[in-house]
Amino acid sequence: MKVNGQQTRSIWVEDDGITVGIIDQTLLPYRYATLRLRTVADAAHAIKSMQVRGAPLIGAVAAYGMALALREDASDAGLERAYALLIATRPTAINLKWALDEMMAAVRNRPREDRVAVAYRRAAEIADEDVEINAAIGRHGLKLIEDIAARKPGKTVNVLTHCNAGWLATVDWGTATSPIYQAHDKGLPIHVWVDETRPRNQGASLTAWELGHHGVAHTVIPDNTGGHLMQHGEVDIAIVGTDRVTAQGDVCNKIGTYLKALAAHDNDVPFYVALPSPTIDFTVLDGVKEIPIEQRSAEEVTTMTGLTADGRIESVRIVPESSGVANYGFDVTPARLVTGLITERGVIAATRDGLAKAFPERAAAD
Ligand code: MRU
Repeated sequence: MKVNGQQTRSIWVEDDGITVGIIDQTLLPYRYATLRLRTVADAAHAIKSMQVRGAPLIGAVAAYGMALALREDASDAGLERAYALLIATRPTAINLKWALDEMMAAVRNRPREDRVAVAYRRAAEIADEDVEINAAIGRHGLKLIEDIAARKPGKTVNVLTHCNAGWLATVDWGTATSPIYQAHDKGLPIHVWVDETRPRNQGASLTAWELGHHGVAHTVIPDNTGGHLMQHGEVDIAIVGTDRVTAQGDVCNKIGTYLKALAAHDNDVPFYVALPSPTIDFTVLDGVKEIPIEQRSAEEVTTMTGLTADGRIESVRIVPESSGVANYGFDVTPARLVTGLITERGVIAATRDGLAKAFPERAAAD
């Protein structure tokens, strides 16, 4: 999508054909700066420190991380070490494991001297496939928005989203935002309620930033506002992303998603989840019981980071020194609260049957 009017992806290979460029998302929305990943340690650090984040982008960075690792050591031991380092960076987004397994399958049986080239090729495919998948998600989700627009001619369609499931969280288009961008590009009147998404504020910092750069009308709201808006008919549809969807359609996503799904259910607001198929984990059924939820540092809760009047990025403490803090990164929305899953193969039911029928090859493999 566009940054300062320029078409941009969230990850690319630099002109040297080796180093990997990323946008440092920890500086947004205050500064737009890019970084070069030169080693697998750089890639692991970028994921862990959330310079890159969002399930599909984490997968793409990990894929390139394997390629960078093989430049340093193309042996089997080197491959295993890189896998172990990268898989430990973030536990919840299943795209990380998916991408690492794809890379392993691509290079494992190749001679050492071919491994680097093969790895860069497969990583590029993973990135390109993500763009194609998200474009398809957008086309399917667009129909949902068009249906709503047809029911309220001349009026704006209001979409609520949580966290950042935008192009910054993927390679391009985003998942939840892809239908939004496509509706906007088609000239449909659309407006997005952007949950700020404490504690790291991915909505306020990232979703708002990217929607603004693409010219999409939006309003940032405190996380607790969605229920009120739904009660007053101000939300036509909720579309969120996800870090992992189980075989029965339970949806793990950024903490607070579950509460939005409950509010949507109570107010008959359709609640959709947009996902690329690598986000499906067919090895897991009950998301609440089985998905490991990342616990993040207390500091994300005790401090707020922002821009000072004289242009410095600073953090300030907002919680008493003596108070305990809990920081669960994700929650699970049970399938019964999900109106439908917007995938690259169409909008499907959040059920075991719906997922298995849409992705039989994945269901059988896992
Ligand atoms: O902790 P984050 O910022 O990586 O969490 C991101 C989310 O929860 C996104 O909604 C999810 O990864 C889907 S991204 C298309």
